[in-house]
Amino acid sequence: MGRGKEIIGGITMKILVATSKPFATVAVEGIRKVVEDAGAELRLLEKYSEKSALLDAIKDVDGVIIRSDILDKEVFDAAKNLKIAVRAGAGYDNVDLQAATDKGVCVMNTPGQNSNAVAELAFGMMVMVARNFYNGTSGTELKGKKIGIHAYGQVGRNVARIAKGFGMEVYAFDPYCPDDVMKEQGVIPVHSAEELYATCQYVSLHVPATDETKKSINLSLLSKMPQGATLVNTARKEVINEDDIVTMFETRPDFRYISDIAPANAAVITEKFPGRSFFTPKKMGAQTAEANINAGIAAAKQSIAYLKEGIDKFRVNK
Ligand code: 3PG
Repeated sequence: MGRGKEIIGGITMKILVATSKPFATVAVEGIRKVVEDAGAELRLLEKYSEKSALLDAIKDVDGVIIRSDILDKEVFDAAKNLKIAVRAGAGYDNVDLQAATDKGVCVMNTPGQNSNAVAELAFGMMVMVARNFYNGTSGTELKGKKIGIHAYGQVGRNVARIAKGFGMEVYAFDPYCPDDVMKEQGVIPVHSAEELYATCQYVSLHVPATDETKKSINLSLLSKMPQGATLVNTARKEVINEDDIVTMFETRPDFRYISDIAPANAAVITEKFPGRSFFTPKKMGAQTAEANINAGIAAAKQSIAYLKEGIDKFRVNK
């Protein structure tokens, strides 16, 4: 009998993978191996659309692995045996941390595991916009352009690495990251968001969605951008002031906005300002087999390590 079974009094521990946007099959196989090798049972709830399906599936499991799936108070209330919830990815704005803490549930993320995938998508979208969405007209190149990385975390660092390969001049703003870390990676630190936006033709967003950052990317910042301004958002749509984006489109014919997931006013933007924006139909940044394997297996290992040994290295709630 594995230690996990001992821990929960002789009953096999159960780990649920609840993903409305499923992992690649190969990642699910990897997760299954980690879970079953530990003597636990894997349950799968994929492509669900009704919250009731999650409420039902989570009610007797010990651990849950999610992506952008919402874990709110109602879900934690329904999860009578839950001890650990791991967000296989970086952002955990989809989890009610207070509700988890109130129920004694540990919440973790898997930082860095999907960051290269997100950074590559940022460039996929940047090349597309620079080449006028491949419409046959003459576009521009990324080489020699200035790119501003707004928040220099794991994704931001991958964006910097790739940007240098393109021959871009790389700037970053992050009040939580020392200048030396940026400089060591050939990135020029700036010390305010205003300076970043005023300097760079391309700005790539990597800020998390928090009370402080929501709607913080506004007209005051964007209007400082030089001619040929392109905002690339592979972070969260919540950090954008979407009304101000429309005003930018109206007042700056050079402005373009590309985002991994559509803003609420996408229909207005695409109709009134054709050929100047692109929005993925579903969040695609982390949607690669590699990112799914890295983040999914890390989440499975972290779940098992917590359930068996109480290891909570990547805990994000108190
Ligand atoms: C993240 O926060 O890790 C990314 O936004 C990816 O989210 P996803 O797993 O829902 O694709």
